[in-house]
Amino acid sequence: MKKRFSVLMTRGLHVSAVKRLEKKCNVVIHSGKIPIPKKILLQKINDVDGLVCHPYDTIDKDIIKNGKNLKAISTFSVGFDHIDVDFAKERGIKIGYTPKVLTNATAELTIGLIFDLMRRITEGDRVIRQKKWNLIFGAHDYTGIEIANKTIGIFGMGRIGKEVTKKANGLGMNVIYHSRKPLSKNLENRLKCKFVTEDALFQKSDIISLHVPYTKKTHHLMNSKIFKKMKDTSFLINTSRGKVVNERDLVIALKKKQIRGAGMDVFESEPIQKTSQLLRLENVVLAPHIGSSTEETRTKMSDITVTNLLNALYEKKLLYSV
Ligand code: DGY
Repeated sequence: MKKRFSVLMTRGLHVSAVKRLEKKCNVVIHSGKIPIPKKILLQKINDVDGLVCHPYDTIDKDIIKNGKNLKAISTFSVGFDHIDVDFAKERGIKIGYTPKVLTNATAELTIGLIFDLMRRITEGDRVIRQKKWNLIFGAHDYTGIEIANKTIGIFGMGRIGKEVTKKANGLGMNVIYHSRKPLSKNLENRLKCKFVTEDALFQKSDIISLHVPYTKKTHHLMNSKIFKKMKDTSFLINTSRGKVVNERDLVIALKKKQIRGAGMDVFESEPIQKTSQLLRLENVVLAPHIGSSTEETRTKMSDITVTNLLNALYEKKLLYSV
């Protein structure tokens, strides 16, 4: 008879995926504070074979070392910067993740933030709720900026960058991009986008949209030096990882009007710190890390997360392995 493995989930997933996991494994779902506090995770990981985690959970050396029986980590995310991958691999632990299925959802949110920010939708919602509508009746009291014919600069032309490019084309925007390697000319033509240098991207774009993974190289990629290069009429959109942007420098750039606004789905600290100056600025739209958060996508992510974990534990090929 096959062994029943024990699994810790730092948070529940879609019911059908959890049921599938429970058929084969003894599952403990953390039900307290989210993200699971390190102290609790250190205890709970002690005797489990598998771990299901999320981008908010830091799976560092301490946690991995404490997982004496740990054979597999399955993250409910495309990003895996929260896991010490090298250390886990040294210990023979398999790691699964959920790419591809969230490409469209994240690209949609990117476009949503652009609309929200440039047409001032959420800001307008605040105007109404604060009963200030009568203060913005003048013809030019509450104007936004049109999206069509603007230049969007995509930083990082992976799956999500490409999907944003397609959607931006549909909106009549010009697309330029920068990434480690330019696309083939053929693909550039098909996607209607043009590779430019990093400097040109920041200098020419009306909107900068970030689509890079978080690594040592991309840490604080957006900082005061870069904000100074951007147009003072430009907007920043971040649906990648919070630490790609130096938030302190961003706040200064917004206050000094070095850039015009920012749409942020990810933050240096999540949940955002109560003291964050971003909460006090009008020219900012904030979303609580919901890039992949649609019913369609999250259901697929749940399924993949569970399949990855089961396959890793029962020595089958993972659907997506890091
Ligand atoms: C991911 O999958 O990495 C997303 O940021 C989570 O929503």
